[in-house]
Amino acid sequence: MLSFTLNNKLVEIDGVKPDTTILELLRTKLGQTGAKEGCGSGDCGACTVVLASESGFRTINSCISLAAQLQGRHLITVEGLQAADGTLHPVQQAMVEHHGSQCGFCTPGFVMSLFALYQQRREAHSDPITRADVEQALAGNLCRCTGYEPIIQAAMHACDAPGHDIEAQVFETPASNQRKSQVDGYWQPESRDQLRAISQAYPEARFVAGATDLGVEITQRLLPVPALIDLTEVKELGQWHQDEHALTVGAAVRLSQLHNLMLPEWPELAELFERLGSTPIRHQGTIGGNLGTASPIGDCAPWLMALGASVVVSNGDRTFGYSVNDFFTGYRQTRLEAGQWIDHVVIPRRRPGQLFRTYKISKRFDDDISTVCVSWLVELDDGRIVTARCGLGGVAATPVLMDLSQQLAGYEWQQRDTLEQIKQALSANVSPMSDVRASADYRLALLPALTERFWLETTTAVVTRVINHA
Ligand code: FES
Ligand code: FES
Repeated sequence: MLSFTLNNKLVEIDGVKPDTTILELLRTKLGQTGAKEGCGSGDCGACTVVLASESGFRTINSCISLAAQLQGRHLITVEGLQAADGTLHPVQQAMVEHHGSQCGFCTPGFVMSLFALYQQRREAHSDPITRADVEQALAGNLCRCTGYEPIIQAAMHACDAPGHDIEAQVFETPASNQRKSQVDGYWQPESRDQLRAISQAYPEARFVAGATDLGVEITQRLLPVPALIDLTEVKELGQWHQDEHALTVGAAVRLSQLHNLMLPEWPELAELFERLGSTPIRHQGTIGGNLGTASPIGDCAPWLMALGASVVVSNGDRTFGYSVNDFFTGYRQTRLEAGQWIDHVVIPRRRPGQLFRTYKISKRFDDDISTVCVSWLVELDDGRIVTARCGLGGVAATPVLMDLSQQLAGYEWQQRDTLEQIKQALSANVSPMSDVRASADYRLALLPALTERFWLETTTAVVTRVINHA
């Protein structure tokens, strides 16, 4: 039996399968039809719901999130926002007053993203809200009919106006024994030892963490997934630590957490993280999942390769370390063998003299898949190159590392000849494909252009970054 809190009421329900999504559960078993299915693949936000916990309110895409992961949690849907006396929640009221409900179909998703923003800001006692705050909160909600202005205005108004909050039980932390999965065929080990025992006992089970990729397999390819081992409750996999050499990040650390871990030392990653999926996707997706799916357009691999990071896999008895580029063996293939999981990722600390940038090119600024992602790390000693590594996504069947350190050792970074050498090396070694996102020629043209941008940004005072994209 699955047991969780839905809009402040306990729900206990049988018959949930490992591959039942939250949206399917809500709409077909619980009669809660506020959350809609737009794309069914985590792209549009019509299905947005909110998970409440002691660490706050986070939006997720219910279409690709697994119902089994709700055990012991508190889920809030649009049906839960109205007060018992019928008073609308402030974000709902503002949507009415600012004519933010346009087509109506995506409106519940917009409302839930605004609700999470409203709650987060009240808890953090934040400064007056900015348009950028709202745009970031809505980056996972697509309007296909009208536009965003009334919705943005509703958010600006609601988040700065006084209102009522969902009552205190929202913040209840479920006891840890309530968190254990009660769904047949779905295991939630809580330690590495339990994970080893379960993976050995059920070798047919697949590993899952945020399910942002697996969820798409379920909803788009209609693949049944009868047995799953959930890595997100394994304590060791959700931890991180840093010493003088490296930041070590557990595989189940979420992308939104990774964002906060990386930015102090690598602030150049800020834009990429804001465009890595959407806010709900970053709340669910993990660093291990982003690498484990081995997508050629996964947005973590390029910069991890440029930084010289390594992936450590484990079967519970032994661990095996690979550089990130060695970890990928082919399209959607890795060195993981049966019974092995990604355990953690080791990211070297920043050293003086390291220049770093990551550029993502996609058709849409927010919530889109990379056409090409380019990440450069150049380390200088007295202005001369010691290390020059480039991680590339979207140019081959796997993410690609180009290590030009030997070829360029001793070259002066400031010299334009150095840049021309790099451009030639890139063009000679990469043969991208054409697909729906871009032609091979376009991709090939991007590599020298983005490399020149990196060179300009690090050799002159030229600012090439677009700050305000509205
Ligand atoms: Fe589009 Fe879920 S239905 S993100
Ligand atoms: Fe629903 Fe525009 S408001 S698509």
